[in-house]
Amino acid sequence: MPASDRFLRAARHEPTDRVPIWLMRQAGRYQPSYRELRQRYGMLEIALSPQLAAEVTVRPVHDYELDAAILFSDIMVPLGPAGVRYEIREGVGPVVEAPIRTGAAVAALSVYDATVREPETAEAVERAVAALSGVPLIGFAGAPFTLASYLVEGRPSRTYSETKRLMWSRPSTWGALMDVLSEIVLRHLVLQVKAGAAAVQLFDSWVGALDRADYEASVLPYVRRIFQGLESYEVPRIYFAVGSGHLTAAMAASGATVLGIDWRQDLPSVRRELGPGLALQGNLDPVALLAPWAVTQEQAQAVLQGMAGEAGYIFNLGHGVLPDTQPDQVRRLVRLVHETGLAANG
Ligand code: CP3
Repeated sequence: MPASDRFLRAARHEPTDRVPIWLMRQAGRYQPSYRELRQRYGMLEIALSPQLAAEVTVRPVHDYELDAAILFSDIMVPLGPAGVRYEIREGVGPVVEAPIRTGAAVAALSVYDATVREPETAEAVERAVAALSGVPLIGFAGAPFTLASYLVEGRPSRTYSETKRLMWSRPSTWGALMDVLSEIVLRHLVLQVKAGAAAVQLFDSWVGALDRADYEASVLPYVRRIFQGLESYEVPRIYFAVGSGHLTAAMAASGATVLGIDWRQDLPSVRRELGPGLALQGNLDPVALLAPWAVTQEQAQAVLQGMAGEAGYIFNLGHGVLPDTQPDQVRRLVRLVHETGLAANG
């Protein structure tokens, strides 16, 4: 079975010959070729250059025989045309020039026509798809809560105090912010699908900071709207969050067709809890790739063993590849998953 089929078939619960594998942050600083390019260009410069973004997107698939590519970009990219001034600070993350904490600041955000304002993203997708010779490309966006956390805090946060303060004390401002973010995200994803993305992933990385009641009342309706808006395009819809085991059942009701699971959760238990309706993706601890290979291997095999014989399963890490990962560890992991993950009943 060509690599081109495995990922999409697994996402649709169809039998595959092997367990498919791709890795969050598979294009990034652990690769010597990426670090070299970064000597010459900024991260956003690469993301906004269709030629460079496509090149960086395709490289790990060629180097490691992964079963899917993910567009090289950042969750902050669609916020630029909405009027947000930000930078991606190295070793820190997104930093916003003027944090958004008032109704007036929310009202100043504009929903825009992605086909007009994001031609670079569309062209990067088209170029990557052309260079991938059939290996599927995953388009992505940040989910409204995770984007809001950067906009309201102005930078990465541990407590999300300002975000929760806004959500709890100014519900109508919060609602307006989530409304505009949902619409921007939906259009950004539709743009990528129309340009050739075969699946989409919504990153709600930091939503695990909320309890279930707040998640269901103040976040889930907006995520639902995004997935609903994508339904007619008939591409797999992946939804991922970190440290969100207490939200898994609620996230399963979002309209996603695949759930990304972090390493803190036990995949077979999640499958038992949710039933076979949703495909699962995950969940090797990214730190396991920093351990001696024997340890990495043992942990990866434990993940595979837990899902042996199950359709609707995609191997991934529980979060992104860490920058100090040795490329050879990634190469060995892909080989291991392809060689031992035979039991997806093909
Ligand atoms: O290979 C891929 O996964 C595709 C590219 C990708 C990037 N960011 C490139 C990037 C994707 C899917 C993202 C999503 C993203 N960005 C998320 C959701 C996923 C997650 O990690 O939870 C979040 C929260 C962001 C915000 C962001 N951008 C952070 C926290 C950072 C890291 C800051 C740092 O220096 O440690 C970034 C920068 C960023 N985005 C890098 C890359 C490869 C590091 C780039 C560099 O400096 O060259």
